[in-house]
Amino acid sequence: MAKFKRNLVTTALPYANGPVHIGHLAGVYVPADIYVRYLRQKGEEVVFIGGSDEHGVPITIKAQKEGVTPQDIVDRYHNIIKESFKELGISFDIYSRTTSKTHHELSSAFFTKLHEDGKFVEKTTMQFYDEKAEQFLADRYITGKCPHCGNENAYGDQCEACGTTLNATDLINPLSAITGNKPELKETKHWYLPLDQYESWLKEWIIEGHKEWKPNVYGQCKSWLDSGLHPRAVTRDLNWGVPVPLEEAKGKVMYVWFDAPIGYISATKEFTPDWEKYWKDPETRMLHFIGKDNIVFHCIIFPAMLKAEGSYIVPDNVPANEFLNLEGNKISTSKNWAVWLHEYLRDFEDKQDVLRYVLTASAPETKDNDFTWKDFQARNNNELVAIYGNFINRVLVLTDKYFAGIVPERGELTDYDKEVLADIPHIIARVEKNLNTFHFRDGLKECMNLARLGNKYLADTEPWKVIKTDEGRVKTILNICLQIATNLSTLTEPFIPFSAKKLRAFLNIEPIAWDKMGDGVIAVGHQLNKSELLFDKIEDEQIQYQVDKLLATKKSNELENAQATPAKPNITFDDFAKMDIRVGKIVEAEKVAKTKKLMKLTVDTGIDTRTVVSGIAEHYTAEELVGQQVSILVNLEAKMLKGIESQGMILMAENADGVLSFVRPDKEVKTGSEIR
Ligand code: MF3
Ligand code: ZN
Repeated sequence: MAKFKRNLVTTALPYANGPVHIGHLAGVYVPADIYVRYLRQKGEEVVFIGGSDEHGVPITIKAQKEGVTPQDIVDRYHNIIKESFKELGISFDIYSRTTSKTHHELSSAFFTKLHEDGKFVEKTTMQFYDEKAEQFLADRYITGKCPHCGNENAYGDQCEACGTTLNATDLINPLSAITGNKPELKETKHWYLPLDQYESWLKEWIIEGHKEWKPNVYGQCKSWLDSGLHPRAVTRDLNWGVPVPLEEAKGKVMYVWFDAPIGYISATKEFTPDWEKYWKDPETRMLHFIGKDNIVFHCIIFPAMLKAEGSYIVPDNVPANEFLNLEGNKISTSKNWAVWLHEYLRDFEDKQDVLRYVLTASAPETKDNDFTWKDFQARNNNELVAIYGNFINRVLVLTDKYFAGIVPERGELTDYDKEVLADIPHIIARVEKNLNTFHFRDGLKECMNLARLGNKYLADTEPWKVIKTDEGRVKTILNICLQIATNLSTLTEPFIPFSAKKLRAFLNIEPIAWDKMGDGVIAVGHQLNKSELLFDKIEDEQIQYQVDKLLATKKSNELENAQATPAKPNITFDDFAKMDIRVGKIVEAEKVAKTKKLMKLTVDTGIDTRTVVSGIAEHYTAEELVGQQVSILVNLEAKMLKGIESQGMILMAENADGVLSFVRPDKEVKTGSEIR
């Protein structure tokens, strides 16, 4: 790192149209926080930037759906997100937002500079306009029939039924989602960043200059650059965003992906008046932690913007991750298929580190990965509790018991002791190497290897037996174990900071700098504190509760997505009029013996009292049926069912999940009234 004097670490600004979930955490925030905590322990100068991305069309759509303003939406989620990050120990130096005054001013100035320097090209195109709403329509605001699969509810940018990316003009019979009107094509002018002009610089910078980037990142950049870059519009016809600071652009705002990354700069400016050294001094090392869907924006578009502006540095690395799935399915905010951070924190009090640990251990670093609650429980119980927690607990309890919690001195070392001591710096070096290269999973694995080493050493040396014959030997053993435990309190700090802090409290020590780790970190004669368990077992019931919650979500999604069965062929009015449907009342009900579904009903039809056998016994008890008003088809041919003559049919509506409900008048109607 000699080339650099300081670090600027940014994390993708989450859209403030929903809370954050484990996918965001595993991909971006947990790895970034690990890295930053590591740098700080190394004594590096670092600024850690986060914030909410509060512009863009989805936020306006959500606001419209709820009948509130976009500002209401972003206020709500910004606060939830900010609080939950804090509680998880994501140690931002600042967590800002793109609706801030500083941000609006800075992105305006940025735009103006590019405009004045002639860095944009202007183009006039035809775009859908809603006369009634008096506004141009973003692609998301237009619905119509998909030209590929015929889905009637495709969006102007994408058909969610067949997954095809669309242009609004592709839609058959496009309609405005705001008013339902047929939109007209109308001329509009926009400002474009001519990415093609930056192509050769980008190729030189990334393809030649950054071969060390992660293969998934480098590969995606290469494929974009190979297929050729085109000018990208950086303005939109929308009334939510940073206004375009030009007289001729009234009513237009910057494209959300233009202003959002500038949010990193604004946040730095809000954090310190000395912000320019982080953004303009080539001795600053800038890193962007992001998910894979953000690669093109951070590796190509934003760097081109910075280059166009002229006074800024570009990132040294962009360690993007792949996606985390949940129980085998893609995480989805709109489908509520997620583990939400704020809910986790509520359901698992004081277990921030368990989530941090599990998300790091199964981080989607090189390929998509799956989170399951079973795995979550297993990693807690079999790794954190059984390996790490168990080692720490045994060492502290034994030291307390035999030596009143005072670090004992060492006697002569055996070859095995020497071997174990020699292993410590090797493991530390491996953690360090993995952290330097953004291999957080492997880094964490090595931490656990140090705990494993300690556990094995204890099991092999058996101080609880040796104490009966050789106290001096036990002193040596526990001294060595305490060296391991103390090193672990520093080594694990970036990953599981809450437990590291707890462990430091047990050991009665201050934080130790990264480079101070090794043998001798804890001195002979040092008094330890009383300890507790570092981790607790997670019980099956807790896991089952979470699994059930997801199952309920799945079920309600299936119901929502269930397609109605296709219509039957047409009939004439006469066909319909042949049916005699009446309002009836159930006067008696009795389950038909030896059947699961059948109920024998006695129904007053107003004409007569008759028997109907109905397949509703799984949905209603006999008691609750008596007195119910129903619709009954009275001129249906009688039919024998289980030896009972059924004279008519009760009309029922059936839900996609098979749940039945009676079809009946919405107010009390005289028994025998006709339904037509
Ligand atoms: N809000 C974007 C997303 O969630 C990320 C924006 S990152 C920034 O995909 F650089 F633009 F801020
Ligand atoms: Zn389609």
